[in-house]
Amino acid sequence: MCGIVGYIGYRDAFPIIIKGLQRLEYRGYDSAGIALFDGSQINLSKTKGKVEDLKNKAKGISQKGSIGIGHTRWATHGVPNDVNSHPHYSNSGKLVIIHNGIIENYEAVKQELTKRGYTFKSDTDTEVLVNLIEEVKKTEDVKLGKAVQIALNQVVGAYAIAVFDIEKPDEIVVAKLGSPLAIGIGDNEFFIASDASPFIEFTNNAVYLEDEEMAIIRLGKEIKLRKIKDDSVAYPRILELQMNLEEIEKGGYDHFMLKEIYEQPRAIKDTYRGRLLADQGLIRMAGIDQNMEKFLNANRIIIVACGTSWHAGLVAEYIFEDLARIPVEVEYASEFRYRNPVITDKDVVIAISQSGETADTLAAIKLAKEKGAFVFGVCNVVGSTIARETDAGAYTHAGPEIGVASTKAFTTQITVLTLIALKLAKAKGVFSESRYHEYLTELETIPSKVERSLESNPLIEIIADVYKDSTNCLYLGRGYNFPVALEGALKLKEISYIHAEGYPAAEMKHGPIALIDEHMPVFVIATKKGHYEKVVSNIQEIKSRKGKIIAIVTEGDEQVRDLADHVIEVPETLESLTPLLTTIPLQLLSYHIAVMRGCNVDQPRNLAKSVTVE
Ligand code: AGP
Repeated sequence: MCGIVGYIGYRDAFPIIIKGLQRLEYRGYDSAGIALFDGSQINLSKTKGKVEDLKNKAKGISQKGSIGIGHTRWATHGVPNDVNSHPHYSNSGKLVIIHNGIIENYEAVKQELTKRGYTFKSDTDTEVLVNLIEEVKKTEDVKLGKAVQIALNQVVGAYAIAVFDIEKPDEIVVAKLGSPLAIGIGDNEFFIASDASPFIEFTNNAVYLEDEEMAIIRLGKEIKLRKIKDDSVAYPRILELQMNLEEIEKGGYDHFMLKEIYEQPRAIKDTYRGRLLADQGLIRMAGIDQNMEKFLNANRIIIVACGTSWHAGLVAEYIFEDLARIPVEVEYASEFRYRNPVITDKDVVIAISQSGETADTLAAIKLAKEKGAFVFGVCNVVGSTIARETDAGAYTHAGPEIGVASTKAFTTQITVLTLIALKLAKAKGVFSESRYHEYLTELETIPSKVERSLESNPLIEIIADVYKDSTNCLYLGRGYNFPVALEGALKLKEISYIHAEGYPAAEMKHGPIALIDEHMPVFVIATKKGHYEKVVSNIQEIKSRKGKIIAIVTEGDEQVRDLADHVIEVPETLESLTPLLTTIPLQLLSYHIAVMRGCNVDQPRNLAKSVTVE
């Protein structure tokens, strides 16, 4: 995610902002920038790259001034480059803004502003927003704070912004919806940041803005808090922070992996934000719309990926074939690239990669393109190599995934792939309007259902303690949940170092059942939707051989509860959407077992977050 930092007080702003940006580097970013007011003009420097690059580039500007804003950008609209970096000026050069979030309706606003003579240097939604504020300020003849309040009622999306007006050099206006924004309150000085890490060394008094709140921060005055919706007065809640730096970076969680597991409701919502318009019966994805014929005329879809992304591809195989009736093959990228596959220009290849830098996946893409296939990328890192190498694509907008074990990448990849499959099913006419609408509305309920699945965490911690010393585990699932069984096994082995295997539940009788005894924990996904009765009989086979059964079941299930040693409930949903919920308990289970075994959860032995070599 982007990071924002601001300062207004009596000290030199430059070192405070630069150090603050360094404190936010953990959030992941691809460019950085700073703007300072030196008493007469705004001095701005920004660059693609790291904060260190910004420090070097900023040697070219005046670093004087006690008011300023800074930004680390995680690209969502517009590739990482100097021009798209923040801060952004308004056309007049009098306003300057930094922004963390996504303005969904920025294209419509940009068109209107263009008609009114505005020009744009960057491809960003943020530059549109600062010019909308300028246009409101001009046409309504209001001050910056009021202009921000009016303008934000005209945009749709998520934001944490800080705006400065050269004509009001003793104030900074901030506003929040969906992205975090904290105000540090010092002695005759104020700090603004995405979290408290940039200012905790100066003050532990902070105000965390609530959604749809804005604040006018003026030197020597109390913060003026307002509701964006109607400009009514709101009252600041000053907290005395007890967290240290490391705790702040992990959002109060013990590990990045746990933080990212809990980010999944927000991440899934960000993934479909601006794309899933259920009330209009629409899914809007430019990369698909512009290449619809290629997908509809394809002989088949070949999915290439590695690891967790390959598991997301397996889920997609069920989704595309079941819903869109399009043949799909899923390939390990590392095998695909060397087995001399038969590929034609009637094939569509979908490459899935969180990092966008996985060497095997990149090589598979190049091979597919050489043989004439159309290649579509599903990546999490904007401007990554795979994102640039593919012919088109869709980002997952999960935000940076720091933990080596992939969690929110998996669920957001499945979300993107589900949106694509639904779009294709609709375009092919294989979906009735009512069934299409049922899927769109159910997809919107998934973030809250993931929240409910996360509530089992205390129970899961107890179960983890029972099985933390196991040496082998089996994971079983059928249909859509077979790939989830594979993913659950991968999670456990890569962070706890316990050997684990995932299998289709029906495969037990073809060999693995020989492994079952009282020392073998078997994690079975037995949700109501998806071959339930058959999975129940598999559970009975395991039970009769004294296997330990930990079942993931649908809320209210009694039948499996009577058979299993432990059950973990997830809410009911459509069969094709169950992987988004059943994976949650398995992520938490592997996390707790790894912690109890004293493993390095965020950086497991022998592993790298991005495998950029063969
Ligand atoms: C999953 O937890 C692992 N971190 C690993 O299998 C990962 O999914 C794989 O290396 C693919 O990475 P990518 O999605 O960045 O291409």
